[in-house]
Amino acid sequence: MAITFGIHHVAYRCKDAKQTVEFYGDVLGMEYTTAFAEDHVPSTGEYDPYMHVFLDCGNGNVLAFFELPNQKDMGRDENTPQWVQHIAFRVNSVDELLAAKARVEAKGIDVLGPTDHGIFQSIYFFDPNGHRVELAADTGTAEELAELKRVAPDMLEEWSRTKKAPQHAAWLHEKARAAHAAAKARIGE
Ligand SMILES: [Fe+2]
Repeated sequence: MAITFGIHHVAYRCKDAKQTVEFYGDVLGMEYTTAFAEDHVPSTGEYDPYMHVFLDCGNGNVLAFFELPNQKDMGRDENTPQWVQHIAFRVNSVDELLAAKARVEAKGIDVLGPTDHGIFQSIYFFDPNGHRVELAADTGTAEELAELKRVAPDMLEEWSRTKKAPQHAAWLHEKARAAHAAAKARIGE
C-alpha cells in the first residue's frame, strides 16, 4: 500500500501569476486560496524572488504555480511532444465534460475532444503558459478496471523487452482509432 495519501499539491511554473489565477478561476471555476511570496527559496535559501499561488481544484486537491521574474523566460521541454506533459482534472460525468467543453470554448479557447479512452473520456486544451490541461470523466466498469490491472504487469514486461505497444488493452482505444480513421477518410474524400 502506498505510504502517500493522495496528492498534496502539484506545482508548475507560470509566466504571470495574476493571469494564471484568473484563467483557472474564470475557465474552470477554481478558487484562489493562498500565496507564498519571498525573495529567498525556503528549501535551499538561494535568492530567487518568487510568487507561489495555490488554487483549489476540487476534492481537496491543490494546483500551484510559481512566477519567477528574475529567471529566463519560461520554455518547455522541446524534446518531448506537446501532448505528452499534461495535468488531468476529474469531472463527474460525460455530461459535465461536454458542458465544460462548451464553457472553455466560450472563452475563445480551442478544445480537442472528447477522446474516448475506453474507461474515461477526455478533452484537452492549453493554459496561457503552454501547459496542456485535460479534463476527464470516468466511464469504466469495475470489470474493465480489473481486467486492466490484470494485464498491466505483462504489458510492462513486454514493453520493457520490445519497446513496441503490447496489445493486451488495445480495446481501450477502439473508438478513438475508428474516429481518427473516419476523419482521415473524410479528408481523403
Ligand atoms: Fe492524460
